[in-house]
Amino acid sequence: MKKLGILVSGRGSNMMAIEHACKHGELSANIELVISNNKNSLALALAQEKNIKTACIDSSIYPDSDASDKAMVEALDEHDIDFVLLAGFMKKVGPRVLSRYKHKVINIHPSLLPKFGGKGMFGINIHTAVLAAGEIESGVTIHLVNGEYDEGAVLTQQTVSIALDETPESLAAKVLKVEHVLFSKTIQKIIDGIILLPSD
Ligand code: GRF
Repeated sequence: MKKLGILVSGRGSNMMAIEHACKHGELSANIELVISNNKNSLALALAQEKNIKTACIDSSIYPDSDASDKAMVEALDEHDIDFVLLAGFMKKVGPRVLSRYKHKVINIHPSLLPKFGGKGMFGINIHTAVLAAGEIESGVTIHLVNGEYDEGAVLTQQTVSIALDETPESLAAKVLKVEHVLFSKTIQKIIDGIILLPSD
């Protein structure tokens, strides 16, 4: 069983989809630890309800980003984490975590990167921008995390079509539905060696 650490900031629906997949044997892994940078995130409360260990690493406790980066490495190391999954984590991952967990930090993003990624591209903004650009499809990207927002190597993508009467909200819902399946499927493919992570 692989050990997952999940980073969250918000409502946690992807985290819950992964928890469900682990519980039902669709993903041969366990969520060992959930870390949030937001003490008020619903995800943190949901993880606690599921008796998953949680940690809050936020700026009110840690004075600067290096201190929180260090604290995150310590927390992940303590739980012997194999993969760090970003499931709606709204902060840059620090260099210490990225170096300690090199090629093991994975993000899910609700667009077809490199389109509609980067600073400011989060939540409904993404889907509004996709429709404004007149795209005929959007989708989900799962990618390795590097020091920049939404820029690491793409591991997998799945498209969704855009209807003529699509709204940002309807597109967000469509994309989220795909996210909930694709994230755990992709992690399982990594565990099974079907998707290969860089080894350097
Ligand atoms: C998802 O759309 C994910 O792709 C993005 O942030 C959102 C998080 O949603 N990175 P949730 O917190 O998992 O419900």
